[in-house]
Amino acid sequence: MSRSTAVCVSAVFLLLATPPGVAQDYPAKPVVIIVPAAAGGPTDTLTRVLAASMGEALKQQMIIDNSGGAGGTIGVNKAAKARADGYTLLLYHIGMATAPSLYRKLQYDTLNDFDYIGQVADVPMMLIAKKATPAANFAQFLAYAKANKDKVTYANAGVGSASYLCGLLFMSAVQADFTMVPYKGTGPAMNDLVGGQVDFMCDQTTNTVPQIKSGTVRAYGVTTSRRLASLPDLPTLDEQGLKGFDLVVWNGLFAPKGLPKPALDKLVAALQTAVQAPAFRARLADLGAEPVPAAKATPASLGALLKSDIDKWAPIIRKSGVYAD
Ligand code: MLT
Repeated sequence: MSRSTAVCVSAVFLLLATPPGVAQDYPAKPVVIIVPAAAGGPTDTLTRVLAASMGEALKQQMIIDNSGGAGGTIGVNKAAKARADGYTLLLYHIGMATAPSLYRKLQYDTLNDFDYIGQVADVPMMLIAKKATPAANFAQFLAYAKANKDKVTYANAGVGSASYLCGLLFMSAVQADFTMVPYKGTGPAMNDLVGGQVDFMCDQTTNTVPQIKSGTVRAYGVTTSRRLASLPDLPTLDEQGLKGFDLVVWNGLFAPKGLPKPALDKLVAALQTAVQAPAFRARLADLGAEPVPAAKATPASLGALLKSDIDKWAPIIRKSGVYAD
């Protein structure tokens, strides 16, 4: 066989080995991660920390596209409709599991429009209020809020968001309803809380810890069953009387359905490297968040979690009788 024929044959083999649409050098250009919430909020913060770590592993830049609104469903829909070429991803959370029950006319199919890359981190939440709130602890806060429930406002990131969900659970636990004030994310909501335009909020530690450390808001409790290592003096809502209150926000990395396997494999490997990176873990610990173990940074683990969570929240949401549309 002549040398030129040999070269052609091996080129053909190489082409056959690489499915269409995925160059051998994937990723050959920056990868976009859609964040279905406004910049400056908890999901944005987590995604930027991940993008730095995962970008290093991929030897490629990762860019954030903030597409907030409608409890995150606008950004999630954008990701569902994006090209499945490995250059558009989605980082979102528990909101992926609540939307199918809250939105009767969802524009995407949560269980069939996405490929799973893996879990990223679990983020506890906290009950916080504006600095001027006349209450030194949770009991005083509850008494004050209930006595003024017609004027006390609860900020959140829209129906289906984590802050909305926490509000729903909190109001049913204390048997009092407060006026919900929706934002495109808890980033802008936090600005108004610090400014005193709204009264209280339940938000992820990746957004609350910096404010608590700088003394710009009051904190009344964490939503997890155990106290946070980063804030050991802040009691849980459970130990302050809301028995069984236990809410943590899982976060996962997704891609539009149909991602070529070589790209998926590279992304899963890069995610696993990222969640084990000391800098990533240290930054999340500072923010009260818990990176997942590598065993959870897998498509199977995220897929199983999403399915079980959709089933868990459906009856709770049905019982609340709340629908977004
Ligand atoms: C955000 O990043 O703004 C949050 O994830 C919103 C939320 O779900 O509460």
